[in-house]
Amino acid sequence: MPPAADGQQARDDDDGDVGTGRLERIRRRFHEFGTEYAALPLYGTVSRRVAEDPEVAALLVSAQPGQARPVLWFAALHDLVLRRSDLPAARWYASIVGRDALPSGDPWPDVRTTVLAHADELRRLVATRTTQTNEVNRSVYVAAGLAAAVEGAGSEQARVALVELGASAGLLLGLDRYRIETTPPSGGRTVVGNPSSRVRCEGLDRSDGRPALRPLPQVVGRAGVDREPVGLADEDAVRWLRACLWPDVPGRVERFDAALRELGANPPPVRAGDLVDDVAAAMGDALVQSDASGGSDHVVVYSSWALTYVERERRLVLADGLSALADSVPRLTWFTAEPPRCVPGLPHDPRAQAGPTVLGLRSWVSGREVPARIVGVAHPHGAWLETW
Ligand SMILES: C[S@@+](CC[C@H](N)C(=O)[O-])C[C@H]1O[C@@H](n2cnc3c(N)ncnc32)[C@H](O)[C@@H]1O
Repeated sequence: MPPAADGQQARDDDDGDVGTGRLERIRRRFHEFGTEYAALPLYGTVSRRVAEDPEVAALLVSAQPGQARPVLWFAALHDLVLRRSDLPAARWYASIVGRDALPSGDPWPDVRTTVLAHADELRRLVATRTTQTNEVNRSVYVAAGLAAAVEGAGSEQARVALVELGASAGLLLGLDRYRIETTPPSGGRTVVGNPSSRVRCEGLDRSDGRPALRPLPQVVGRAGVDREPVGLADEDAVRWLRACLWPDVPGRVERFDAALRELGANPPPVRAGDLVDDVAAAMGDALVQSDASGGSDHVVVYSSWALTYVERERRLVLADGLSALADSVPRLTWFTAEPPRCVPGLPHDPRAQAGPTVLGLRSWVSGREVPARIVGVAHPHGAWLETW
């Protein structure tokens, strides 16, 4: 399984170190990555081989401080072969040839040839980019969060305006247009959203009692904010977002592409800005839309693996800001899908200690906060969830 946020969250211990010590650390990281993801035929195999090959591993030395991680190296190479499908390495990528046409055998000779022939270009990418994620399958836990948010407030009859903080390309804002399906270990399944959508999000529902998913409320407004929003019409930026996905993980690239096709003509607006300073503006964007279609009775502000990149003091400023904004709407919910101990104001719940993604709810009705609660935990990409 990919790491929590595809390796974006941790700052490395390599800042400022440009000597051979840094290269050794990079090689060790490739070795660790290759061991952890040994089951991935492309990334697992290649990572272990890079660890043994200082010439190839050295490309990552040009990364910005804190960014020298195998995922960046892989994203740069993936971006290159997405642009140049004639290169030898390209035939090992499911995102290029399709999963059914993948060859068997050792990808390393082709990968090494490609990397060394394009070393300057890859070095430039590694030096100027950072990895980015917009994981469509997280719709599974956002749908569970919405179910919990509108519970007791007219459930699916509720008309909600969605505001995503750290929305990236805004793909999670389209969740009601996707087929979202959960299966409990005992069998049976729950499907919400648009059952006939080609965007298929799936997760295992480990909840003990009733299913985590319930019919989605009507979404009458949607808007996001991100400090680096990815416009769906921006070919380069969208390709980089795709390049950051791991082609080895079945369904991931396919789901991403299906979501682009679904939302491409009518993408949810994501404004460029800071999620703390610009939350009111993003909420205004969503409310303009909902007003145009009859109004909403509930604003649901949410973040998924975004607050964790914001300093702790700033998260407190955000919490105060939301509390103030709650005065201006009948009902406001703040749903968070973030690692443990990230979100201010959530109660301690021993079941959520290990995360990895904690699903939290804070709600205000007519400006007054009702008790906050943790509603469950989930896999960082929605592969499983458990609500209580
Ligand atoms: C790991 S990505 C998650 C994207 C999306 N929420 C998802 O779950 O797929 C984190 C996003 O948060 C954004 N971000 C981080 N700090 C931010 C800030 N202070 N203001 C606005 N966006 C921020 C990043 O640009 C990035 O797009």
